[in-house]
Amino acid sequence: MTPAPLFVREILAHTIRAWWCKRMKEVQDHFFKRAKQEGYRARSVYKLLELDQRFRLLRRGDRVLDVGAAPGSWTQVASKLVGDRGSVQAVDLQAIDARGLADNVRLHQADLCEITLETLGGEMFDAIISDMAPNTSGVPMADAAVSCRLCNTLLDRCELWLRPRGILVMKVFEGGEFPELLKRAQGMFAEAHASKPKASRAESVEIFIWAKGFRGGNPDGLVNAPRTRPMPGAGWKK
Ligand SMILES: C[S@@+](CC[C@H](N)C(=O)[O-])C[C@H]1O[C@@H](n2cnc3c(N)ncnc32)[C@H](O)[C@@H]1O
Repeated sequence: MTPAPLFVREILAHTIRAWWCKRMKEVQDHFFKRAKQEGYRARSVYKLLELDQRFRLLRRGDRVLDVGAAPGSWTQVASKLVGDRGSVQAVDLQAIDARGLADNVRLHQADLCEITLETLGGEMFDAIISDMAPNTSGVPMADAAVSCRLCNTLLDRCELWLRPRGILVMKVFEGGEFPELLKRAQGMFAEAHASKPKASRAESVEIFIWAKGFRGGNPDGLVNAPRTRPMPGAGWKK
């Protein structure tokens, strides 16, 4: 069979590209509208909801650290999932609007790299979730490297702040360092996998590592500590 002339192939490629972009925009518009209707602050909430529904990550009573939390849609859903016996410490470089957030949420405007466990309430976490994204430069390789570095910092914090058997969810921009990062997570947890939820744009390089069964990096080794924490004590407020 003789191949189609070049101009026909170009028209075809252009048509497919245009259809794909239109379809992706429809999907994004759908999640954007749904988030507005359901009272969530960002459409990224559906990424966490899907991961949680598929892999059963957050539990009632959990003490959660949410990093890269602004404007706060993951915080909204995490605070609902853990209920009033649980709590969420939400951290971001940007200020998060406290209005409408549940009483089990505490907000911190800070850099993950600088904040201490004492500032975060002094108790270890059952779950650490991160949707952190560095400012993008437009150079995909460089952005992926910065994102990976941030995720490695988060894994360092897990060693100190996460309870044995705890869980982790973290967003990363997939790049050259990604396989090493996943391997490190797999060494730290009983299981660690990478997934791309439907609400994540197909053309985006973001992917989510979710991991369960933290093996415990704290030298004090609270191996038999229960995952569930008591309610925050007196003086708990935003
Ligand atoms: C995609 S947004 C998070 C959206 C949020 N999960 C939600 O559902 O509303 C990424 C956030 O990561 C934050 N971020 C980036 N680097 C950070 C760092 N080192 N410490 C804390 N937050 C950081 C940014 O300020 C930004 O608000």
